[in-house]
Amino acid sequence: MIPTPGITPRRSCQMSLPTARVRAITFPPPPITAEPDSPEGAGLARLHLNEAPMGPSPKALAAAVAALAYAHRYPDHAASELIGRIAKATGIAADCISVGNGSGEILVALAQMVTDPGDEAVFPAPTFPTCGKGAQIAGGRLINVPLRADGVNDVPAMLDAITDRTRLFYLCTPNNPTGGILPAEDLALAAQKVPDDCLLVVDEAYFEFTTAQDGADALSILRNRTAPWVVTRSFSKAYCLAGLRAGYALCSSREICDALWTLRPNFNINRPALAAASAALADTEHLAAVLDHANTERARLSGSLRAQGCKLFPGATNFLTFQPTGNANAIAARLKEQDVVVQALPWPDADGSLRVTLGSREENDRFLALYASAVQDPA
Ligand SMILES: Cc1ncc(COP(=O)(O)O)c(C=O)c1O
Repeated sequence: MIPTPGITPRRSCQMSLPTARVRAITFPPPPITAEPDSPEGAGLARLHLNEAPMGPSPKALAAAVAALAYAHRYPDHAASELIGRIAKATGIAADCISVGNGSGEILVALAQMVTDPGDEAVFPAPTFPTCGKGAQIAGGRLINVPLRADGVNDVPAMLDAITDRTRLFYLCTPNNPTGGILPAEDLALAAQKVPDDCLLVVDEAYFEFTTAQDGADALSILRNRTAPWVVTRSFSKAYCLAGLRAGYALCSSREICDALWTLRPNFNINRPALAAASAALADTEHLAAVLDHANTERARLSGSLRAQGCKLFPGATNFLTFQPTGNANAIAARLKEQDVVVQALPWPDADGSLRVTLGSREENDRFLALYASAVQDPA
């Protein structure tokens, strides 16, 4: 370093930055997001991100485009219109609702809100990792409790893992990556038994897909819990807005919600996302079409995979998780060579399982056709 007169050179920071805590964070690398119509992603079937196969509601798209004309102005930080609509749809008071740049951002903030260094956070394993990332950023210790054999969060085992240091108890229903839906009695047990000084987080990113399948009504169960809880939901899945980034939190109290607002970066949801999310929420026809497509394709893929000897895990989401008749990694690698990207999971055993997004009918047909040959001739 060339010394500048009058300024003392800073000591080398190579060893101390980033902090040991940040270096210790374990988080999956960013996934493949090559666009199917770009040169590098030409013809790619992206069946690994649980994205919506159909475009957003035309009404949501029009609202986003209209919002772009005001791109020179900051968006409404209070997100009044969107929160008003969410309040109406859920029955939760507007001052107990917060919004995020995707529900992932909220999950990180929730963990940061309640975790001091050395505190513990109980998670099902495997599950969606983002809330755990927040706990690690805050210096917390992750306590990972294996899922039940059917891919559902094991609530009694998770409750057994609680100690005096536990401040966060995270449930994911339906659970990503397995799809398992928590039975109402397990949710009620968690609502009753998770201690008062521990935040109960229920991640419902795929909530809308469960409404057609008698999923547990988490909100009515959680209303009976006097201690803190938060339900998170997303506009990325059933509302087909993953690229815009919008999610929301339904909180047990104004105090928890206020803390989320404190942690929110200013203007964290942009104008087009706010406008599109509001319009999407109002477009019940589009939502019905999305759910209908997912149900139809789930039944079609399930039938074909079962006939090929696969073991399917129960669920109601926009993805399907199953144990193939072979090694999941090797099958996924062979499919990827043919531009069909699916997610291999190191669960429940050494051969693992595959998680496949319910894509368009054409994408799913392509997956099914290539899957059969990939099983015969894995990579
Ligand atoms: C269970 C679960 N929670 C949260 C998220 C985050 O969603 P987003 O940040 O797009 O709202 C995802 C995304 O895949 C998910 O699967």
